[in-house]
Amino acid sequence: MNRYRIAIIPGDGIGTEVVPEGLKVLEAAAGRFGFQIEPVAFPWGCEHYLQRGVMMPDDALETLRGFDAILLGAIGDPRVPDHVSLWGLLLRIRKAFDLYANVRPIRLLEGITSPLAGRRPEEVDILFVRENTEGEYSGIGGRVSVGTPDELAVQTTVFTHRATDRILRYAFDLARRRRRKLAHVTKSNAMQYTAVMWDEVAERVARDYPDVQVWKLHVDAAAYQMVLHPDRFDVMVGSNLFADILTDLGAALQGSLGLAASANLDPSRTSPSMFEPVHGSAPDIAGMGIANPMATIWTTSLLLEHLGKVEASRAVFDALCTVVRRGEVRTPDLGGGSNTEQVGDAVAAVILGRRGPAGCG
Ligand code: NAD
Ligand code: IPM
Ligand code: MN
Repeated sequence: MNRYRIAIIPGDGIGTEVVPEGLKVLEAAAGRFGFQIEPVAFPWGCEHYLQRGVMMPDDALETLRGFDAILLGAIGDPRVPDHVSLWGLLLRIRKAFDLYANVRPIRLLEGITSPLAGRRPEEVDILFVRENTEGEYSGIGGRVSVGTPDELAVQTTVFTHRATDRILRYAFDLARRRRRKLAHVTKSNAMQYTAVMWDEVAERVARDYPDVQVWKLHVDAAAYQMVLHPDRFDVMVGSNLFADILTDLGAALQGSLGLAASANLDPSRTSPSMFEPVHGSAPDIAGMGIANPMATIWTTSLLLEHLGKVEASRAVFDALCTVVRRGEVRTPDLGGGSNTEQVGDAVAAVILGRRGPAGCG
């Protein structure tokens, strides 16, 4: 196939600013490698909610099913409660499409000064695999006696053997293609049911991967180790909430949330996978034109890889690395004075060979 239909959901805040740059880069890559991108934009999000009372139309999931992939910016607006906006769109899509593997590369790119003193790019290269469909995000719970002193709220964490087994296997498989080290994040000292089952499944799955070195660590210790010894990690895997938190920590190790990419994958390819930066809608800088689109651009490289466009994917990543390394075009989060559009233009120019050869060094 040489023509790919991509659903584009810019969403809210800086989502609407970074997605056009991601698309610009996707189109540059398609032009250079001789395939076509057919983007179809959907104006879903908080503005849609404020006007119509829903984050996306009733038939949104059906509509999205027909696409080869989804590119999403960010969801969230101070005028709408976050749990309403996120459960009405992003979390709904992840769950409905069973996008169970949320893959988040944490790499320090050459040219970025890590907030960790003295760390070099080769010392920060982690691939985080986040369970993306259940755990702390199962959405089961309730509240009673709301607004009274007797109020009670319950949010149930659900771990199934099926989802635990498949995410661990996914992570082990990735470790096999990398440095053969897998750290799995648990909290079985305190969570005697869910996390203990997680550990038992991890132990069983590990027997099928005798060539992969396993490191079991509690989530608190994982946070500590990621800061002091990021070089000890290769692939990391964790439950939904633990990995959510640790991947923002990972973004910090990379130098900015503006650099953190993510892919919500359905490895069975039954549904379209969804690609989005790790960051949110950043209301504090929305509308200023200074959001860093690099996370979204990196995300498009993951999208192309998923479509099997390996060369194009590599070219996008190389071009991104080149722009980062040269350091001339950077948004303020990375200490620069450029705007969002200039970053997209610079990466697209490298892809199209207009700004010298690309490379990740
Ligand atoms: P956030 O990621 O939006 O912002 C955190 C900080 O990082 C802010 O100071 C912001 O300016 C900065 N930042 C984030 N992305 C940046 C970029 N590309 N370039 C430069 N700076 C960047 O997190 P938050 O403030 O906790 O959340 C804001 C809203 O986004 C909330 O409504 C939240 O629920 C939502 N959210 C959505 C997603 C998503 O849609 N995937 C992810 C996280 C948060
Ligand atoms: C992320 C985000 C989402 C999550 C929020 C916005 C629901 O923080 O993708 O990391 O927690 O999954
Ligand atoms: Mn998050």
